[in-house]
Amino acid sequence: MEKIIIDCDPGIDDAAALSVAINHPELDVQLVTTVAGNVTVDKTTQNALKILEFFDKADQIPVAAGAEQPLVKPFEDAARIHGESGMRGYEFPQPVTKPVQQTAVEALHTAIMQSLEPITLVPTGSYTNIGLLLAQYPDVKAKINRIVTMGGSLGMGNMTSAAEFNVFTDPDAAQIMYQAGIPIVMIGLDVTMKALLTPETLTTIANLNRSGQMLHDIIISDGDRNDAGVAMHDVNTIFYLRHPEAVTTTPYWVDIQTTGPAIGETVADIRGAYHAGQTNALVGTDIDAAAFNRWFIAQVERM
Ligand code: BDR
Ligand code: CA
Repeated sequence: MEKIIIDCDPGIDDAAALSVAINHPELDVQLVTTVAGNVTVDKTTQNALKILEFFDKADQIPVAAGAEQPLVKPFEDAARIHGESGMRGYEFPQPVTKPVQQTAVEALHTAIMQSLEPITLVPTGSYTNIGLLLAQYPDVKAKINRIVTMGGSLGMGNMTSAAEFNVFTDPDAAQIMYQAGIPIVMIGLDVTMKALLTPETLTTIANLNRSGQMLHDIIISDGDRNDAGVAMHDVNTIFYLRHPEAVTTTPYWVDIQTTGPAIGETVADIRGAYHAGQTNALVGTDIDAAAFNRWFIAQVERM
């Protein structure tokens, strides 16, 4: 069973990723940390707790609240996509569980250092907590198995023509992470925009069970949905953990633009002009979208 920590900003697609991960028999979610991103960190923390309580997991998986704002860049949310609450479309009860006392960085450090096995980090929000962790506690690097993250793009961005939202939100922290020497799998827009959940998939899950109804209701509220379907970006990281064979990846060296009009761009050294022969990330470029849809339905079936 793979031990993972999810660092997230729920967020509709984060909520869907969390739902799948905490209910997956082959994934052992050790900790959930939250960060400001889609909405403020107060809201992303409450939303993580809402999902854990919905699935009766709040007493098993701790939640630690993280950074309120990026390292350098001013904070800009994405409430226009995810709604003011961050999980528009479903009325969750107010959570009774509280986040742990430790900050996300402290909780990450403790969980990683205390684990007997190396841990996989799954960041599905901006990278502030991870950047702070790696800067303050470089000893964690040896105990992180790999980082499988949703973020970035080789092609167009979704915030600017260059930048994807998670990297755009905290490019300075993203650069710390990409240069840390930890194996990274970058599941960016090149993958996630090819893996829309179709209207048929959404109708199917709505009729499966209570979990499917809830996921359907939040997913159809996503401000980026169109007639072809809706990208559940963050869920692709969990799919990759279980089905790497269904995602095409290529090793590149990735740097992050931290200033200028392309701020937040993930620059892959495709021509080997700057880092000849060296790579720091496996970059996702394609996915079997039909397999992703079938897998997602199968996950909801057992929730
Ligand atoms: C990413 O940005 C956020 O809005 C989503 O939750 C996802 O992590 C997609 O660009
Ligand atoms: Ca997210």
